[in-house]
Amino acid sequence: MEVRRIAGALGAEVLGVDLAADLSGATVAEIRRAFLEHQVIFFRDQALSPAQFMAFARRMGKPVEYPFVKGIEGFPEIIEVKKLERERHNFGGIWHSDTAYLAEPPMGSMLLAREVPAAGGDTEFASQTLAYESLSEGMRRLLDPLVAVNSSAKADVTRTREDRVKEQGGETKSYVAEHPVVRTHPETGRKALYVNLAHTVSFKDMSEEESAPLLQYLFCHQVRSEFTCRFGWRVGSLAFWDNRCTQHNPINDYHGQRRVMHRITLAGDKPR
Ligand code: SIN
Repeated sequence: MEVRRIAGALGAEVLGVDLAADLSGATVAEIRRAFLEHQVIFFRDQALSPAQFMAFARRMGKPVEYPFVKGIEGFPEIIEVKKLERERHNFGGIWHSDTAYLAEPPMGSMLLAREVPAAGGDTEFASQTLAYESLSEGMRRLLDPLVAVNSSAKADVTRTREDRVKEQGGETKSYVAEHPVVRTHPETGRKALYVNLAHTVSFKDMSEEESAPLLQYLFCHQVRSEFTCRFGWRVGSLAFWDNRCTQHNPINDYHGQRRVMHRITLAGDKPR
């Protein structure tokens, strides 16, 4: 197995592994090390059936259902992340970390490309440990004790899932959760910024208006190019990101073409 970084900030491609195989404990541990070190890892040419995709996901964590989209036939934990030729919005098409509005947001997510546009449809990732570590000492001191309010109902993000949600009869529930603005990674011990443009509405005990200036600053700061990498998909590419210390943004630059991915979300814990 070879691990090759794809950018200065985060992201590495893992070569020489067939994820359809019955992976040894040593290989699983090596993949896990690469995941923790690089925050998002990528594999190419993985022609996995849904059952094989689930089997790999189970070696890395506990697959859970996504709250707003039902799973594919026979696999409730695999959702289809798709944009059809006639659609304008792409699913999750805004910088975010997954489902920060849940009390226990996911540890990570896996995305496997089934159909990709001829060009476009890349996904960007941003390291939230680097974003935190590059702040001044004064700003880190200010942010460290703060708590953020995260909601599933911000208009810019609900729009990105409305095509999928409509297919299933409409969005019924909304979720709100309070989490530390700066969380400590339970495995690496590194601190990471944990607010995001898609879900964070305010700081706890402050109004939205009072929170907005500092949140706006953080939303821009945390996705500065030098904290990011960008991944170009091919059919069979698989990404596995650490939702506790990264954000991602799928780029919506392929109108008129189709992009279909399968996603599995892995259970996480309460951010601290
Ligand atoms: C997502 O947020 O799960 C979608 C990512 C992508 O389509 O690249």
